[in-house]
Amino acid sequence: MSTLYVEIAPSILSADFARLGDQVQEAEAAGADLLHIDVMDGQFVPPITFGALVVAAIRPLVKLPLDIHMMVVAPERMVPEFAKAGADYITVHVEATTHLHQTLQSIRSQGAKPGAALNPATPLSALEEVLGELDLVNLMTVNPGYAAQQFIPAMLPKIGRLREMIDASGRAIRLEVDGGMNPETAPDAVAAGADLLVAGSAVFNSHGCVADNLAALRSATKTKRRG
Ligand code: DX5
Ligand code: ZN
Repeated sequence: MSTLYVEIAPSILSADFARLGDQVQEAEAAGADLLHIDVMDGQFVPPITFGALVVAAIRPLVKLPLDIHMMVVAPERMVPEFAKAGADYITVHVEATTHLHQTLQSIRSQGAKPGAALNPATPLSALEEVLGELDLVNLMTVNPGYAAQQFIPAMLPKIGRLREMIDASGRAIRLEVDGGMNPETAPDAVAAGADLLVAGSAVFNSHGCVADNLAALRSATKTKRRG
């Protein structure tokens, strides 16, 4: 068995927006690996969150890679502004873009790393023809739109099947799990094959400071997996 280093991407969706600059710096100081930024347009999902201006404001405050999760209809319209704002990863929902392949290529051509996200009900087959274009897959383990929802356990076998697909592809694609991750649920997601965990409410909450919350999640994911 080898020990897998599992990356953690705190989601600022659960941060205190009035102190956003401080909160992202706390996450970096606490050892976060990436910063997850949930962009919502009020159409693909009901809430409206951040646009590229907020990404541009955060960019100079941290060195962390910025992982932009676009929960928006027709995300291809917005790729240029997010790429210019300093996005490292731009992940689009396969349910939200008509020309997925073209959108992924456009993300790469604008200097960001392309990712694809799947809602819980969307089958993995939606990725089959675009694996060669991807640097990241975001597997939603809650229905998108809100933080602090419960992890859907039926997603565990889907994580395992995606791990097999990625390994068979021979490509270095990050397998990101998004939704309901906490010290209780994270070990199962890691055992199933996740190597990047998004965590919103488990990191930014009123029960503990960011450093303690991240440390608890980190120690829960020091799991051994696969030989
Ligand atoms: C939900 C977002 C998630 C959210 C996760 O639509 O994509 O990134 O912030 O929040 P938690 O970790 O609280 O489930
Ligand atoms: Zn997200």
